Amino acid sequence: MSQADLLIARVNLPDGRTGVDVAVREGRIVEVGVGLPRTAAEVVEGAGLLLSPPFVDAHFHMDSTLSYGLPRINQSGTLLEGIALWGELKPLLTPEALIERALRYCDWAVARGLLAIRTHVDVCDPRLLAVDALLEVKRRVAPWIDLQLVAFPQDGVLRSPGALANLQRALDKGVDVVGGIPHFERTMADGAESVRMLCEIAAERGLRVDMHCDESDDPLSRHVETLAAQTVRLGLQGRVAGSHLTSMHSMDNYYVSKLLPLMAEAQLHVVANPLINITLQGRHDTYPKRRGMTRVPEQMAQGINVAFGHDCVMDPWYSLGSACMLEVAAMGLHVAQMTSQAAMRQCFEAVTSNAARVMGLQGYGLEPGCNADFVLLQASDPVEAIRLRATRLGVWRRGVRIASSPAAQATLLKPTGPAVVNWRL
Ligand code: FE2
Repeated sequence: MSQADLLIARVNLPDGRTGVDVAVREGRIVEVGVGLPRTAAEVVEGAGLLLSPPFVDAHFHMDSTLSYGLPRINQSGTLLEGIALWGELKPLLTPEALIERALRYCDWAVARGLLAIRTHVDVCDPRLLAVDALLEVKRRVAPWIDLQLVAFPQDGVLRSPGALANLQRALDKGVDVVGGIPHFERTMADGAESVRMLCEIAAERGLRVDMHCDESDDPLSRHVETLAAQTVRLGLQGRVAGSHLTSMHSMDNYYVSKLLPLMAEAQLHVVANPLINITLQGRHDTYPKRRGMTRVPEQMAQGINVAFGHDCVMDPWYSLGSACMLEVAAMGLHVAQMTSQAAMRQCFEAVTSNAARVMGLQGYGLEPGCNADFVLLQASDPVEAIRLRATRLGVWRRGVRIASSPAAQATLLKPTGPAVVNWRL
């Protein structure tokens, strides 16, 4: 075999392998094994640190990101005030400002090793200003980030006049995925009709589907059932995602026992958004307050692919966030009480390999033949990475280092002499 360009030596992998070398040539991983020859042009000493494929965010809103406070702050903290606030902001948007905010967020993402993002883009504004802006952002960040766009009719494809035509125009322009929001339509029947219509559009165009679905505390919001049934009817298995699905938290257990197998049969992907839904849901409750995240462990146990998304960063719905998918994984872990060793590792997969499956990414992973895209973390395994929100010491894309951060540590200035603390055992 000819000489490698890059060797990342003696790293641990998320699947539990330890002390492994990863060799890269011409942007691809060519060999993974123990004790590979150190003849590469560049050798990076991994020293028992975790090398992970990049973080993947399967659910984001890049058209609203970093707009917090524009034109005002969400006072109630509810989803519905967030949607109303976004409606106030939309007429004020300019392509220049939107692109600048999105690119700033993409820089944060690269620094955090977040190299694939599926973003919804609101198509209810007939100018399609955000669509054009994010298509431009997608083009500009392509060397570093796989950005996938979802045509999202935020105000309801049936409820909002002209939304269907706008959605079709957005798809004509090159938006990748068909979105929807059935629980925001005027009636349950309209919601179901929107799901049928949008899935048919996806089937006709050969596209994937990702719907905001049942983002509600209403246990009778059952559009996920329709989404799964339409997926099967149209032969879209494995190509459809249900995002949020928070009503499942409140549903009757017997009904869920029938629903989960249908979702599995449809090979429906699920994207839970723990940071957002732990803050937005349960707002009408006094005490006890429902957590409002979908039933993640039960879905995983059923063989359903579940990812965790960031959803929002500093916008009308969420005032925090920093493109850190480990923070997302940590919140998902806590809200779902996924505390066993195996479950904590599943939470790491929810922001890496599971999310890559939602997006249908090609060449993702740490096997020979995969793209040489990876992150070296200041942690030895996925659980420690989540616990520490581990520093991304290095980020590589196609074998080229595109970001680095200094190791996180503090120096204690004790009378007995300086001591270094880095919170690792
Ligand atoms: Fe969302």
